[in-house]
Amino acid sequence: MAQPTLPRHVAVIMDGNGRWARERGQPRLFGHQRGAETLRAVTEECAALGIEFLTVYAFSTENWKRPQAEIDALMALLEFFLQNELPNLMANRIRLKTIGRIHDLPDACRTALDAAVAATARNTSTTLVLALSYSARTEIIDAVRSLCRDAAEGRISPEAVDPGLFASRLHTAEMPDPDLLIRTSGEMRLSNFLLWQLSYTEIVVTQKLWPDFTREDLRAAIAEFQRRERRFGTV
Ligand code: FPP
Repeated sequence: MAQPTLPRHVAVIMDGNGRWARERGQPRLFGHQRGAETLRAVTEECAALGIEFLTVYAFSTENWKRPQAEIDALMALLEFFLQNELPNLMANRIRLKTIGRIHDLPDACRTALDAAVAATARNTSTTLVLALSYSARTEIIDAVRSLCRDAAEGRISPEAVDPGLFASRLHTAEMPDPDLLIRTSGEMRLSNFLLWQLSYTEIVVTQKLWPDFTREDLRAAIAEFQRRERRFGTV
């Protein structure tokens, strides 16, 4: 019997940390801390399963509008996560990458990110991609600008612009498009995440809040993906 195909690239909108904390009468940060633990477990499971890429929506450009105290707490959590997780990333041979406007982040976060990305660059298991200060619309506009500049200065002709060339100007240029998108906490939205890259992606929405999402839930979402028939617009 043919082996069901594993998704090469899984993308995740990690939603529901705040609700999870509120249900327990705790501050939102408590939910984010538990969310970071879920991220560790899901990353390890992807490595165990042989998933090549895991891209997670860790901080959107819209998240900069949250109260400053929550932003500061999330940035501190990110810095702590990067420092604390490095041995674990190395042990599991996980490579770290980022997409988004990383230069928007506080210096301490950028330093920790640079160090973790450099330390894990040669790892050969799952690539964990953190989307940070990320907006798909901004990413698309930046790609359009770079193509317009090349056309205006005669380096390319407008006719040369096709999906392949366009995709090569996105932050995800080196990665395949996601095969599977998982969104937790029941919301049926893309929330400005990977709008170009998700064109043919299978979407699985679970009611579970992100801190409650388990390795088994990941495997169930992959099984659901494997039951789907992907036609890419054909019959
Ligand atoms: C959505 O929950 C989650 C976020 C905006 C941040 C995601 C962050 C983590 C999972 C923390 C760990 C990540 C790293 C990289 C350290 P929400 O706050 O929007 O929840 P709500 O919709 O219930 O309010």
